[in-house]
Parts: sequence; structure tokens; C-alpha cells
Amino acid sequence: MTTRIEIIQGDITKQTVDAIVNAANTSLLGGGGVDGAIHRAAGPELLAECRTLNGCRTGEAKITGGYRLPAKHVIHTPGPVWHGGRNNEEALLASCYRNCLTLAAENGCKTVDFPSISTGVYHFPLDKAAAIAIGTIADFLETHPELERVRMVCFDARTKAFYDAALAAREARA
Ligand code: APR
Repeated sequence: MTTRIEIIQGDITKQTVDAIVNAANTSLLGGGGVDGAIHRAAGPELLAECRTLNGCRTGEAKITGGYRLPAKHVIHTPGPVWHGGRNNEEALLASCYRNCLTLAAENGCKTVDFPSISTGVYHFPLDKAAAIAIGTIADFLETHPELERVRMVCFDARTKAFYDAALAAREARA
């Protein structure tokens, strides 16, 4: 179901969608990278709500309001840190995407934007991450017609190229 998947280059904090996903850490108390950008754009109320959530386990997801962001909700998910691939990293990354989409559907979100989870500070190899992300999203959309569109919002052209390739490979399979 790849017609409802799009790959764009941009800043996820600027997207007017039902939910944006935050590549968080297990504390949910903010950080650098996209986590820092989302908290800066959302304002202090986001952190205040996150403090009430008691953290989040790697691969799981929790939802908050969007506050000063144009997005209605933020779905926070701690991705796995890459340690070479023998620590269940690939399954945990797939769980991030699946659990975020499950929460989005449960909360009536029809448009969801993802950053490239774990491929920054957490050093997950981009080719593997892109294949896992696109495969998990496409599989989920096949059984969830209520979700209208899922986008990967890539911060740079190099990242976008990997997601474009992963989407093309999935479309070739279909
Ligand atoms: N919009 C979209 N993507 C962004 C943005 C943005 N505004 N800012 C950064 N990114 C991209 C990065 O370029 C990278 O491709 O998000 C991707 C994920 O990188 P990180 O933010 O480093 O996230 P991750 O690798 O999952 O590491 C998470 O970093 O910031 C801390 O608190 C966070 O501890 C957690 C860790």
C-alpha cells in the first residue's frame, strides 16, 4: 500500500499534520536532534506533559498534545541504539513504527509524519533503517485504511535518497 506513503525533505516541526513522531529517548525529557527541535518549537507545555508520562521503553510509543507546533499531536518513540545488529535492534526499530501508527490510528490521526528514527545520534545504518521503516509502514497501511497518508520527513538529501530507494524497492515488489 505504498500510494499512501510519501518521502519529503524538510523540517518536521513545520508540518501541519495530525501527528508528528519524535525520535525521543527513554526519559522523554528532551534531548538534541529532532527531539530538541520538536521541544523548542512546541514550547514548555510539551515537556510538562512529558514529565507526567514516566518515560517510555525503547520500541514503544506515547502520545501528547502538539502545543505550539502546527501538528495536533506528538507521538514519542525511543528508537534502538545501533550496537552492530545482534541486540534485536531491527525488531525494535520496526516496533517503533508499528506502535506509533497504532497509537495514531487509535487517536483518530489520519496524517502522520515520521523523522528517520535512530539514524542520527543512535547510528542505525540508513539503508537498513529505511527498509525497516518503509516495510513496516506499508504493511500497517494494508490493514488500516483509516490512515490517509504517512510521510517520511527527511532533514537532508542524503537521508531522503535512502528512503526514496526503500520506497521504490517496495513498489517494485508490489
Ligand atoms: N526535522 C526532521 N528530521 C530532523 C530534524 C527536523 N527538525 N532534526 C533532525 N532530524 C533528523 C536527523 O538529521 C536524523 O536524520 O532526525 C533523524 C534522527 O536523528 P536524531 O535526532 O539524532 O535521533 P536518533 O538517532 O533517533 O537519536 C535519538 O538523540 O536527540 C537525542 O533525545 C534524543 O537521545 C535521543 C537520541
